[in-house]
Amino acid sequence: MGRSKTAFVCRSCGAESPRWQGQCAQCGEWNTLEDAGSGASRPAGRGSRAPAARAVALLGAGADPGTGPGDHPSSASAAPAGRTPSGSAELDRVLGGGIVAGSVTLLGGDPGIGKSTLLLQVAAQVAAGTPVLYATGEESAAQVGARAARLGLAPGGLQIAPEAELPRILTAAREMRVGLLVIDSIQTVFSPDLEAGAGGVAQLRECAAVLVRFAKDSGTPVFIIGHVTREGTIAGPKVLEHLVDTVLYFESDAGSRHRIVRATKNRFGPVGELAFFAMMETGLREVANPSAIFLARPSTIAPGSLVTVAREGGRPLLVEIQGLVDPMRFGNPRRVAQGLDATRLAMLLAVLHRHGGLSLQDHDVFANVVGGLALRETASDLPLLLTLASSLRDRPLPATLVAFGEVGLTGEVRPVAYGEERLREAAKQGFRQALVAEDNLPRKPIEGLTVRGVSRLADAVDYAFG
Ligand code: TYD
Ligand code: MG
Repeated sequence: MGRSKTAFVCRSCGAESPRWQGQCAQCGEWNTLEDAGSGASRPAGRGSRAPAARAVALLGAGADPGTGPGDHPSSASAAPAGRTPSGSAELDRVLGGGIVAGSVTLLGGDPGIGKSTLLLQVAAQVAAGTPVLYATGEESAAQVGARAARLGLAPGGLQIAPEAELPRILTAAREMRVGLLVIDSIQTVFSPDLEAGAGGVAQLRECAAVLVRFAKDSGTPVFIIGHVTREGTIAGPKVLEHLVDTVLYFESDAGSRHRIVRATKNRFGPVGELAFFAMMETGLREVANPSAIFLARPSTIAPGSLVTVAREGGRPLLVEIQGLVDPMRFGNPRRVAQGLDATRLAMLLAVLHRHGGLSLQDHDVFANVVGGLALRETASDLPLLLTLASSLRDRPLPATLVAFGEVGLTGEVRPVAYGEERLREAAKQGFRQALVAEDNLPRKPIEGLTVRGVSRLADAVDYAFG
């Protein structure tokens, strides 16, 4: 039986379909399916070697080259053999211990979140030891130069090529024998071998495939920037995830100064690792101790807010969960979860009804994790339900209370891993009370923290409002 050939790809989520449809069956977006095989190649294009892109050295861009890489993200990260330090210990950890030779890393994120800033900083750091080509179809060399100057980056061996034609970029990279190639962004580069326009699925995939081949053949690591797009007029980085070795995404609120980079795929390291940065006037700076960076609560706590201790990327993190319940006006009740799993929210609402005695059947329910972080652990079950109860009753929860615990279908509160570590972090950040599963009670008392263990959701609700 012959495998049917995929002909259409969704620009938004990358789902494939053998037929054209008005709506993507996977993500539900309209008019995003695109003929991925439509990039008929031009016979003359292939084979002929393209002239090199014109690259300019970043001379006069700030810091004195003799003094080395300023005070930038560097935490003097040592990388194992075969890996190049990126100049940021946080980023190195997310990559699995530095930049792997011949690897292709996709960095996705919303426009304006800091992708160019981060990779320009990395490029400048790496350029201290080996030539680096930063190819940009987005900005002129002067614009990138001005940014580098503002960031105080040492020029070193960094070359900027304002170029969108991929073969010319690769010729320049080969001629320069670069130790790192950055493509900013995959949506602006194009291969003239394809008739399809830049930014479409066919061009994106072709260019990524060519870059992967270049990386593997030459052993040069490549970073590819991809804008996450909402409008659906250009294809997003999702359509490339399967082609590359490592996928990193910026994950944060546009309103916040803090930036998180998460590895969602990594052939050379663990997934789920997080790197924390703060966007400053002078670029992205590492946040070495991020446990409380999301906590900026007003002095009077409103109903529907509670702090939990999450554990993400191997570290405890204090984050505020917010819940809002509002009487429904018409139609079906709305359930909206930001940074939390919406399916799990629906399940937890049923548990709250059956085992917590609170019905939200006639209410719209909104849940949010402050700061833009996405929580994937069940430890947020208990605090989430408490914020909803708090909003429904219009009674605030104590400002110095933290809670964590999984809630099961029978209304039981279950322990989560790293209980003591979470409790100690909460105490360190000045919290005075903790509400956790009985099995998460610490063996030894934790100074300054009163820990209450519960085994039933109903008891937790009683305690929190008692
Ligand atoms: P940028 O890296 O250009 O975003 P992307 O490449 O993901 O689209 O960063 C854009 C924002 O960051 C821009 O709004 C200005 C801000 N910014 C700073 O606050 N400080 C800086 O040093 C730099 C370079 C940018
Ligand atoms: Mg950019």
